[in-house]
Amino acid sequence: MEICKLEHIRKDYRMGEVVTPLKDVSLVVNKGDFIAVEGPSGIGKSTLLYVMGTLLQSDEGSYTFEGRDVAKFGDDEKSELRAKKVGFLFQDSTMIQALTLRENLLFTQGVGGKKDPKMVDELLYRFGLEDRADFFPHQLSGGQRRRAMAARALIHDPVLILADEPTNDLDEHWSEEIIRVLKEQTEKGTAVVMVTHNSRWAQEATRRCRLEDGVLVDIAE
Ligand SMILES: Nc1ncnc2c1ncn2[C@@H]1O[C@H](COP(=O)(O)OP(=O)(O)OP(=O)(O)O)[C@@H](O)[C@H]1O
Ligand SMILES: [Mg+2]
Repeated sequence: MEICKLEHIRKDYRMGEVVTPLKDVSLVVNKGDFIAVEGPSGIGKSTLLYVMGTLLQSDEGSYTFEGRDVAKFGDDEKSELRAKKVGFLFQDSTMIQALTLRENLLFTQGVGGKKDPKMVDELLYRFGLEDRADFFPHQLSGGQRRRAMAARALIHDPVLILADEPTNDLDEHWSEEIIRVLKEQTEKGTAVVMVTHNSRWAQEATRRCRLEDGVLVDIAE
């Protein structure tokens, strides 16, 4: 079953000189897909995730989510899609500083229309944060924050997870854990699109693509 589809997507940034990280990107993401996106720094991988997360509007081409044309969505519809359907695990993800870790997770879950404190505790446990639930974000280490962000990306049971280098700042053990959890999630039907520079983690994906000169190409096995 198709979750989302990009067709001939073009994205320009106009800041003095025009930069076009996405020239003609097409991609179909189906339920349960685990797609790795590779490519050098500055090529446009994060830009691609922003378009898929409806944080950026493409300049050309079409983007449909569950069969609906995202270009026709109003701001409220886009917010709802992001809150309910998409899990974001981005490089610069942050938590609300005035809320504890548990409160942050409950908040994100609530915005996504769910209330499941048991799931919050389960995810905290899964990411080794059960004894940090009542800590504020500034009381967590970089790696703990990263794991907290991973828990948050799953907390509202999204259909699509967008992960931008999710293993950054993490040691071997927790990198493996994050990849394992993402993989488990795809086995339950969630789709994951993961940007990574690490070919070891990319190999865990069911499909590997590379962004090259504004086009997404499959990497042959
Ligand atoms: N808001 C913006 N305005 C102007 N240019 C931008 C903006 N965001 C990104 N760019 C430019 O677009 C290009 C692609 O950036 P992007 O962040 O998507 O790359 P990336 O592949 O994710 O890189 P990295 O691996 O370093 O994270 C870069 O040249 C960047 O400078
Ligand atoms: Mg990036």
